[in-house]
Amino acid sequence: MKRQMLLIIGAALALGGTQAKADDIAVGEAIYAESCVSCHGRAGRGMASFPSITGRDADYIAKRLEQYRAGERVGPNTPLMAPHAADLSDDDIANLAAYISETFQ
Ligand code: HEC
Repeated sequence: MKRQMLLIIGAALALGGTQAKADDIAVGEAIYAESCVSCHGRAGRGMASFPSITGRDADYIAKRLEQYRAGERVGPNTPLMAPHAADLSDDDIANLAAYISETFQ
């Protein structure tokens, strides 16, 4: 059943081009402003133990967010970051990755 759903979702994404919401920078910006800016800052430069997330490509950002969402330990301060990734959807992650990689150089 789960497998079937994945196939259907995959097919919908492949066919639906314009319907897919992934990589939407404006949506990523809105999520960032609500859930991320307090630690990583308006320019993504971070502060104190909150790391800079500038100069990264979208794949790097997405991979990291997936790791935090999955509950993996990434660095010494993972417990500060993980709760903020826990509820992100795949689309949220793609949108955030697009926004962060395009905006924070
Ligand atoms: C409470 C402060 C806080 C909030 C809010 C927060 N982060 Fe983080 N973030 C951190 C910390 C601390 C780390 C480093 C964690 C570690 O050591 O693994 C981190 C790490 C990261 C990394 C990995 C950086 C690297 O170089 O590998 C990314 C990407 C990231 N955060 C993106 C986000 C996004 C996107 C959001 C919003 C959904 C967010 N963060 C919200 C504190 C926060």
